[in-house]
Formats: sequence, C-alpha cells, structure tokens
Amino acid sequence: MKIALVGGTGDIGTGFAVRWAENHEIIIGSRKADKAQESAGAVLQKLEQNGNVWGTDNGSAIAASEVVVLCVPFESLPLVTGEMKSSYSSQIVISPVVPMSYNGRFFQYSPPPEGSAALQARSLLPEGIRIVAAFHTICAAALQARERHLKADALLCGDDQEALESVAGLTREIKSLRPLKAGPLEASSLVESLTPMLLNAARKNKIKDAGIRIISEREEA
Ligand SMILES: NC(=O)c1ccc[n+]([C@@H]2O[C@H](COP(=O)([O-])OP(=O)(O)OC[C@H]3O[C@@H](n4cnc5c(N)ncnc54)[C@H](OP(=O)(O)O)[C@@H]3O)[C@@H](O)[C@H]2O)c1
Repeated sequence: MKIALVGGTGDIGTGFAVRWAENHEIIIGSRKADKAQESAGAVLQKLEQNGNVWGTDNGSAIAASEVVVLCVPFESLPLVTGEMKSSYSSQIVISPVVPMSYNGRFFQYSPPPEGSAALQARSLLPEGIRIVAAFHTICAAALQARERHLKADALLCGDDQEALESVAGLTREIKSLRPLKAGPLEASSLVESLTPMLLNAARKNKIKDAGIRIISEREEA
C-alpha cells in the first residue's frame, strides 16, 4: 500500500515508518518538503536502506497515497484535513490523534465539540472518506524500536468493515501487536481517552513505554 504519514517527521510517524517501510511505500509528509526528505533518509538509514520511503509536503503525500495516517498534534488536525480537502480522494484515514491537556497535576482528555479527534476529522474531511481511529495507546518509542515485540493491543474504532480490516492488517505487521475492534467511530472518544489515563498511571508508577492489553480471565481447560 502507499501510506502517507502526515507530520511523519515526528515521534509516532517515525515509528510507523520503520515498522511498515519493508512491506509498503511510505510517504513522509511535513509542512516542509526538505524536512520530510531528511526524515525519509534517516528512516532508510535505520533500515539499512531496505525499505521504500520518501518525503514531500503533506498535501502531496496525501494525494499520492491510499492510506493516510494523521501523525500531528490535535491542534494541527484542521491543517491536514479540512485545509487539505482537495488532496483527498478515496483514502482510508487513520487517526491516532489524542486531544489532551495537562493541568499541572495530571493529563486529562480534552475532546472538541464533535466528541473526539476522529469525529472532528470526519467533520472536516470530504464525505465518503473512511476513518479508523487507532493506535492511541501505542508508545512511539516502543514503535521506533523495530525489533521489539509489542505486547499491547491496538483498539480500533470505525464504521467501514473493509477499512477496519485494512488497519487490522497493518496492525498485525507490527510484531505481536493485536488489533481489537472497539466499536463504531462514535465510540472513538472512549479509546482516545485511555491515553491520558495510561500516561498518568505510567508516571505515578514509573512504568516506561506503557501500553494496554485486554486479557481474558477465563480459565482454559
Ligand atoms: N508520541 C506518542 O507516543 C503517541 C502515541 C499515540 C498517539 N499519538 C498521537 O499522534 C500524534 C502525533 O504525535 P507525535 O508525538 O508524533 O507528535 P510530534 O512529534 O510532537 O509532532 C509530529 C509532527 O507534527 C507536525 N506539527 C507540529 N506542530 C504542527 C503544527 N502546528 N501544524 C502542523 N503540523 C505540526 C511536525 O511536523 P513538521 O514540522 O515536519 O510539519 C511534527 O514533526 C498526536 O496527535 C498524538 O496524540 C502519539
């Protein structure tokens, strides 16, 4: 697949690039094309040149892709969705975006009026663009450590079965990461809000690279 990582010069974008570049064409997007090209070079170096990665501006990255991952801070979401509407055609859009704030004591979930970042993205994108909310609780540092097996689950919310299956497939390509369906896009606020909770628990209990896994307490025979 051709996967655009908008804002892919940052932490989580770099993580996706190193995990997917051997099987897919990765297009790193940035507000500045030369910064994206530099990032692509750094990813290729990490992969010892075994991968298909290039960089360009965000709009061109979206236009050239089949899947777009929104790897930008929540505040920048309009810039890579509504303001780049004309670059979208029929892509699947993945939103790992978490709207959250820190009040000096703990992180809290700060959703927009639409209800979640993913629902805001839906309201800003052209009609018919399929959105899957995913990867909010995956730690970028763990993702960047390419050989590391992630013991976590990736919780996916979306309304289109085919898009959900595509994202589940991409999830399985990341060593040991398990995709779990968590409801329609309307339920995405529940998944997004797990991130500030996870960060608070990680800080209070000194847990590095924290993740979430749903277990079954059922005893197997
Ligand atoms: N980091 C994690 O562990 C993690 C885990 C799960 C989910 N997420 C979510 O993933 C998203 C990206 O996180 P991140 O940690 O990778 O972020 P980041 O490294 O802080 O930023 C990612 C990229 O966003 C672009 N950007 C920054 N400010 C911008 C602005 N005002 N307008 C447009 N683009 C801007 C920058 O790219 P250019 O300067 O190249 O344009 C930057 O490299 C966030 O929504 C976050 O909630 C992160």
